[in-house]
Amino acid sequence: MAKKSFPLSKVYALLEPGPVVLLTTASAVQANVMTMSWHSMLEFEPPLVGCVISNRNYSYGLLEASGECVINIPTVDIAKKVVSCGNASGLKLDKFKKFGLTKSPAKYVAAPLIDECYASLECRVVDTGMVVKYGFFVLEVVQAWVDTAIKHPQTIHHLGYGNFMVAGATIKLRSRMR
Ligand SMILES: Cc1cc2nc3c(=O)[nH]c(=O)nc-3n(C[C@H](O)[C@H](O)[C@H](O)COP(=O)(O)O)c2cc1C
Repeated sequence: MAKKSFPLSKVYALLEPGPVVLLTTASAVQANVMTMSWHSMLEFEPPLVGCVISNRNYSYGLLEASGECVINIPTVDIAKKVVSCGNASGLKLDKFKKFGLTKSPAKYVAAPLIDECYASLECRVVDTGMVVKYGFFVLEVVQAWVDTAIKHPQTIHHLGYGNFMVAGATIKLRSRMR
């Protein structure tokens, strides 16, 4: 067998599905944006998404208090801005202004859409059962926006330690999974 024992501390990088996304949240006075890669689809329709958000992040409190957010899906052209939003706290910094991201009002939630991202998913928190233990919020997507002119979005996928994979070739195979 060619495989060797692998450090458990690095397992997340094997399984991380990506794409890396920008999560926006808002209070009555301020909006914030953070980078997130620990998320997973949980249900087709209505779409449910599970997200792990550390309680050390400013976004955690905003999401907990408002129960709303937007998952914005960026492409490689703004990769540096995406990583910058994950390297800074919004507690005392307007990351939209600092990193040049444009906010647009969402339809159903107070958190903003980000114009530079090719897709934005307006979400409401529907299950907080695992928030205390894992920081795991279950979100329901209540409205989705996609720039359909972008046929092959080059999303970015986190590999750990500053390494990212850029979505590339697609292949078509017979699959029973819709
Ligand atoms: C590529 C990347 C992926 C990240 N994924 C997550 C994540 O899934 N969950 C999380 O809590 N923090 C994640 N972070 C860290 C937060 O984005 C970071 O702590 C950020 O500064 C939080 O911002 P805030 O304090 O304004 O909320 C990630 C950072 C990077 C660079």
